[in-house]
Amino acid sequence: MTRAAVVLAAGKGTRFKSELAKVLHPVAGRSLLGWVLSAIRPLDLDRVIVVVGHQADMVAGEAQRAAGRPVVIVRQTEQRGTGHAVRMAFESGALDDVDSVLVVPGDAPMVAGAPLAAMFDAQTGNAAAMMTTVLEDPVGYGRIVRDGPGRVVRVVEERDATAGQRAIREVNVSMYVFDASSARRELSRLSTDNAQGEEYLTDIVEPLVADGVIAVSAPPETVRGVNDREQLAAAGRVLRAAMLSELMRDGVTIVDPAATYVGAECVVAPDATLLPGTHLEGATRIAPGAVIGPYSRLVDTTVAAGAHVTFTVASSASIGPDAQVGPFTYLRPQAELAERAKAGAFVEVKQSLIGPGTKVPHLSYIGNTVIGSESNIGAATVTVNYDGYRKHPTTIGDRVRIGADTMLVAPVKIGDDAYTGAGSVITSDVPAGALAVERNEQRTIEGYAERKRESRPT
Ligand code: UD1
Ligand code: CA
Repeated sequence: MTRAAVVLAAGKGTRFKSELAKVLHPVAGRSLLGWVLSAIRPLDLDRVIVVVGHQADMVAGEAQRAAGRPVVIVRQTEQRGTGHAVRMAFESGALDDVDSVLVVPGDAPMVAGAPLAAMFDAQTGNAAAMMTTVLEDPVGYGRIVRDGPGRVVRVVEERDATAGQRAIREVNVSMYVFDASSARRELSRLSTDNAQGEEYLTDIVEPLVADGVIAVSAPPETVRGVNDREQLAAAGRVLRAAMLSELMRDGVTIVDPAATYVGAECVVAPDATLLPGTHLEGATRIAPGAVIGPYSRLVDTTVAAGAHVTFTVASSASIGPDAQVGPFTYLRPQAELAERAKAGAFVEVKQSLIGPGTKVPHLSYIGNTVIGSESNIGAATVTVNYDGYRKHPTTIGDRVRIGADTMLVAPVKIGDDAYTGAGSVITSDVPAGALAVERNEQRTIEGYAERKRESRPT
């Protein structure tokens, strides 16, 4: 038995009113198309075909990336209907050796693998299995017409339906498994004689009924497509809630799931705590015992065991075991904090290593810098790394004490156990164990205030 999937992703998604193809819109950490492709991944199909049209190259690229396996791309240059789209997949040759073919729309992110697998089972020995659901408000969907004994007879599109048929609340969700040769035969006979002048995939149901069409029903929230941005937000809520429930079952503390955002590709270990206002995005990984939030956004960032990250924005950063970050801290790409390191209030770190136990507690900018262990960087220290053309490195050793408000004009090296005086502008290397002070001697003018007062005009 050779099994394949055809994912329909050629449409524009007019109701999104977007420059971006609908299936590329992200929700809960993945594109709509990415969700569908990850739902079919566990089915272990012999082939996955994605039909692209609108923004074909971008959609094809996302399909290849998100599927986690090679995907066959079929181009449908004109969107002449769902039937036409599947016919293009057959005519590409990619289904020539296939026995059963799953068809799914690229805009149904809540679908899971198990109900799709159930459709493959239901199709065995029949021409087709199709997913249906019952909606409170079926407007816009194709309606499932059944006969007296309850067998599926045909699907009628909203715009072609009679008033009586529009009252039917059981609808088509565009998920089917077809016997491939039956589908191929009926697709070649499709007409465009309907309200939209399109080749309707739904029209192959009626001629297949004689060879068996099995309806498989599913709860609406698992099969619903996303047609506008309100439905996108609603899908996001459902997907996030499901992911957060799974994390909580696995031992993650989430204080307020309604105020916590964890993307689909993030990994959060048991015994981590996510406080309200936490946004984890991209390939962020949180280790056991780490506490994130409140109000932190971490993108592609790794947080090791026991670290605390509060009121922080971080992107492609790495936060070591028992490190402390925040509040109001900005970690930019390649900011790396070793174990027990600290980046405190109003500190920005970029492409720098803060060594074990080293603290940058307040109001500092650290860029292109390597700092050893157990050093302390005084408040308002700046690594002056940019001369207007190039970035230059700063190296700071172990057990260094950088005085408050030091400007470290790179390239510059500060040796182990060295000190800098507060307010110094350091332009030359400081040897190990030395103190470097760069500032003018203080002038104190006695009686200044009184003289000022006397010179005041009366
Ligand atoms: C389709 C179904 C309808 C069902 C509804 C929701 C048909 C004729 N109707 O209607 O019964 O209730 O979906 O599931 O099938 N697409 C292409 N190429 C095309 C046209 C569409 O790839 O030429 C893709 C779209 O990108 C989308 C999917 O097929 O992912 C469904 O297309 P859409 O236009 O949303 O179909 P509906 O008119 O909503
Ligand atoms: Ca639709």
